[in-house]
Amino acid sequence: MSAEQPAQAGTFNVGLLGYGTVGAAFAELLQDRAQEIKGLTGREPRLTGVLRRDSGSYADILEGSDVIVELMGGVEPAREYVLAALLSGRHVVTANKLLLSQHGEELIAAAAKGGAQLLFEASVAGVVPVVRVLEQSLAGSHIERVHGIVNGTTNFILSEMERGLSYAEALAEAQSKGFAEADPSDDVSGRDAAAKMAILARLAFGAPVHLDEVPFEGIEQLQGDDLAYARELGLGLKLIGTAERRDGGLSVRVHPAFLYSGHPLASIGGSFNAVTVESEAITEVTMSGPGAGGPQTASAVLGDLVSAMLPPTGRRAPVKRLPLLTDIESAFYLHMDVADRPGVLAGVTQALGEHGVSIKSVLQRGMGESARLVMVTHPVLESSMSAAVARVAEFDFVRAPPRTIRVIEEEFV
Ligand SMILES: NC(=O)c1ccc[n+]([C@@H]2O[C@H](COP(=O)([O-])OP(=O)(O)OC[C@H]3O[C@@H](n4cnc5c(N)ncnc54)[C@H](OP(=O)(O)O)[C@@H]3O)[C@@H](O)[C@H]2O)c1
Repeated sequence: MSAEQPAQAGTFNVGLLGYGTVGAAFAELLQDRAQEIKGLTGREPRLTGVLRRDSGSYADILEGSDVIVELMGGVEPAREYVLAALLSGRHVVTANKLLLSQHGEELIAAAAKGGAQLLFEASVAGVVPVVRVLEQSLAGSHIERVHGIVNGTTNFILSEMERGLSYAEALAEAQSKGFAEADPSDDVSGRDAAAKMAILARLAFGAPVHLDEVPFEGIEQLQGDDLAYARELGLGLKLIGTAERRDGGLSVRVHPAFLYSGHPLASIGGSFNAVTVESEAITEVTMSGPGAGGPQTASAVLGDLVSAMLPPTGRRAPVKRLPLLTDIESAFYLHMDVADRPGVLAGVTQALGEHGVSIKSVLQRGMGESARLVMVTHPVLESSMSAAVARVAEFDFVRAPPRTIRVIEEEFV
């Protein structure tokens, strides 16, 4: 579809930017549900223009629309188009996490200036309604922490690695099933999850957080035997995004982490996403569901469209900048490839102890050339752990760079 249709009375005119995986699914869903939505809102939503790379004119689409649905992706020209729509008083629905995590403040200010709504449920965790829950249902809950599995591609790859596949085999499997793009870098590096955590942090804490302020580590370096050893210790591996209050500031970060089996995120497998929200008032709430896919994401976009057609439910909370902390305490899994000889465990334990690292559990496996020492530590500052690992790496009996992965300590029962 490319032609811009004339506006009609009693209709709500929808200008669609992008007609790819999500855009095409949204257009189909909109057509299927138009009468139901008319019943809910009193107006019939009607697609009045579609922009693609080689068809449609943004100026004409904007002119003929009550709402702009941005499903192009990328930062420019999406930013320019969304800003123009908001400043002209048109509501905007978007699924674009890269745009929101880098220009969220500018867009929110433009929405306030233009008297328009900016809705972005589909930008985080696909169909899981976490944005609305944080913004409205839990608005008064003084949230302490949000933990999320917010990237379905990496969760699928890790689930396959748990079944015994190597990283390369699991990635190939994800690509063949359509869960990973031909260029999976944004997903496997943790950047996509970091963008989503920046958005969630702003919603949870009312503090602006930019993608550039979120440190992230991905899953490319993980080894299959780390997962096997961790299983013996009762741990499962996930790519976890965390946003939490700490010492008067915030920590927002993404990295692989081991979870004990009682953690609510431990059982989330395959391409599903899940978000756990914690506060004193609510204890813990976990939401999970499909994190991506055309029809699933389109359904979240359609929910936002219905919201845009109804009177706004409230004002956004005021924003207050909070310091972002970088050196965080965590428990660690530590994997060492060592020579099989007396004194090794004592040497490692002493070196760790000198940096304040104490050991919670130890596994020793193999003999001779294939001896392995695997430990889980008690919580310690990341800087202390890095210093301890650098010291351990200097021993002549350590035969390869030691590997560390964070462990999330809490056990929910
Ligand atoms: N795919 C998912 O499962 C999923 C899940 C959650 C969120 N999202 C988000 O949803 C958005 C869309 O993703 P998608 O997977 O649907 O992308 P996609 O399949 O690549 O489709 C992008 C669409 O936007 C159009 N487009 C891109 N750049 C344009 C430009 N400069 N001018 C005009 N049109 C342009 C493309 O035009 P052509 O048709 O001419 O190529 C295409 O129709 C992204 O922000 C993504 O992060 C996607």
